[in-house]
Amino acid sequence: MEWNVEGIGESAQTLVLPLFEEVAKAPNKATSGLGRSTAAQVREAVASDDFDGKSGKSLTLWNSGQKVILSGMGLPENLAEKDSRDAGAKLLASLSKQHGKSLTVRFTTGWRPGQMIAFAEGMMLRDYKFDKYQQKDDDDDDDDSPYSVTFQASDRYLRALHDGCARAGAIAVGVHRARDLANEPANVLYPMEYAKRARAWAKGKDNVNLTVIEFAELKKLGMDGLVNVGKGSEQKPCMVIFELNPDARDGPCPMIVGKGITFDTGGISIKPSGGMDEMKFDMHGSATVFGLMEALHGIGHQQPVIGISCMAENSLSSTAYRPGDVINTYSGKTVEVLNTDAEGRLVLADGLWKAGEFDPEFIIDLATLTGAIVVALGHEATGLWSNDTALLERIRKAAESVDELAWPMPLLPAFEKQVKDSKIADVKNLGDRYGGANSAAAFLKQFVPERGEGDDAEQYPWAHLDIAGTAWGTSTNDMVAHGATGVHVRTLTHLLSEN
Ligand code: BES
Ligand code: MN
Ligand code: ZN
Repeated sequence: MEWNVEGIGESAQTLVLPLFEEVAKAPNKATSGLGRSTAAQVREAVASDDFDGKSGKSLTLWNSGQKVILSGMGLPENLAEKDSRDAGAKLLASLSKQHGKSLTVRFTTGWRPGQMIAFAEGMMLRDYKFDKYQQKDDDDDDDDSPYSVTFQASDRYLRALHDGCARAGAIAVGVHRARDLANEPANVLYPMEYAKRARAWAKGKDNVNLTVIEFAELKKLGMDGLVNVGKGSEQKPCMVIFELNPDARDGPCPMIVGKGITFDTGGISIKPSGGMDEMKFDMHGSATVFGLMEALHGIGHQQPVIGISCMAENSLSSTAYRPGDVINTYSGKTVEVLNTDAEGRLVLADGLWKAGEFDPEFIIDLATLTGAIVVALGHEATGLWSNDTALLERIRKAAESVDELAWPMPLLPAFEKQVKDSKIADVKNLGDRYGGANSAAAFLKQFVPERGEGDDAEQYPWAHLDIAGTAWGTSTNDMVAHGATGVHVRTLTHLLSEN
């Protein structure tokens, strides 16, 4: 989407007028730039009972050459940012070819800047398609051109609206990047292809360092969690490290670690075939890491941030790891593998431990880790665990403020006991039957590095986000039609840049 911000004046081919319920008479400015008869129609419609401005109601006035969409917003005091963002997204989703690609969105009586920005943000986020594998009709060519949207408001709001749109637009690019990566099928996007795309993005950016630790190096370093999960595939695993603003680093730095399983067959503990195609999204944690880096770079973030993506394909072959194997990890702890489908925690074990080498301020990991979190929270919220109540609360608040809910879950000693219960290794990769999302979190906690040594040693503040339910397939998320959501690019951008 191309966009700009200007005062109320001319109108494009399609005018969007989001109006509040209390507006019984069309404000003069609302009809600015419209032809005589269209303007009369707008005034008539707003005055009539046919359009009452109630939330979710809309009316389209249709003239050749000029279309006006009256969009009901309810009462202004009730319009939370989420409602406004949802309304913008729904509006964009409702557009048809006949509306054309040129739009004017005109905010008049009752609109506050925060609400306007959220509406524009909803339009930007929803303006996404993953259709690169579909043939286009030749005579349909210009259908593919981007929307060109002019947001109009009173002069006194223009500065705020412009800055807000610029920020929202840059973050939407990151969200769309995350969706692109996660939607990409696994035959196209395998671990080294992710690395290649990361390299291509980092190239020429002087405040971005990119490091790729390839398979041979992973083996040398003893990153056996990643090595074992990934070695059964022809497409070998790797670790991708993004360093944003490394030159500004003069103290502890936020670390974000992502699970990047480009396809999860379950390995030898193979998954049932129904719905297995969805396991191409099992790298959404790493997609969020990449999208976050792009969003932060896009808004001109000046502080250092480091992202670590743990990339592997969990496949099965004669070289795949097996149930019963005892493997090493980068931390030195050994793991008894009881189920090769509990692979995410193994690659993250190495990613978390690696994070400890960078003097972390805190470590946040994101992973499509368990089916159990989908049972617990559905698609409505991400599961959130932390060893630090202040960090947990910061993340919860940041997530809530951008309407990507992260819901606190318990990090109980009983679950740690389950994973520490191996008879032959330090830990096992499986807990008891129930509460599987919690035992997965408890497993990760065993690999959170410590600050200091000996008796003074203390784990770095760490939080785990299980995004298995929120990364895709949500029907209640208006920001996305289908497929990957790009979840938590906005949350983490907010967390890192507004504190
Ligand atoms: N990638 C899956 C988790 C998942 C399931 C994500 C459904 C999205 C939708 C993960 O690797 C996995 O297989 N977890 C197992 C763990 C079990 C073997 C302890 C699960 O949840 O069944
Ligand atoms: Mn799995
Ligand atoms: Zn998985």
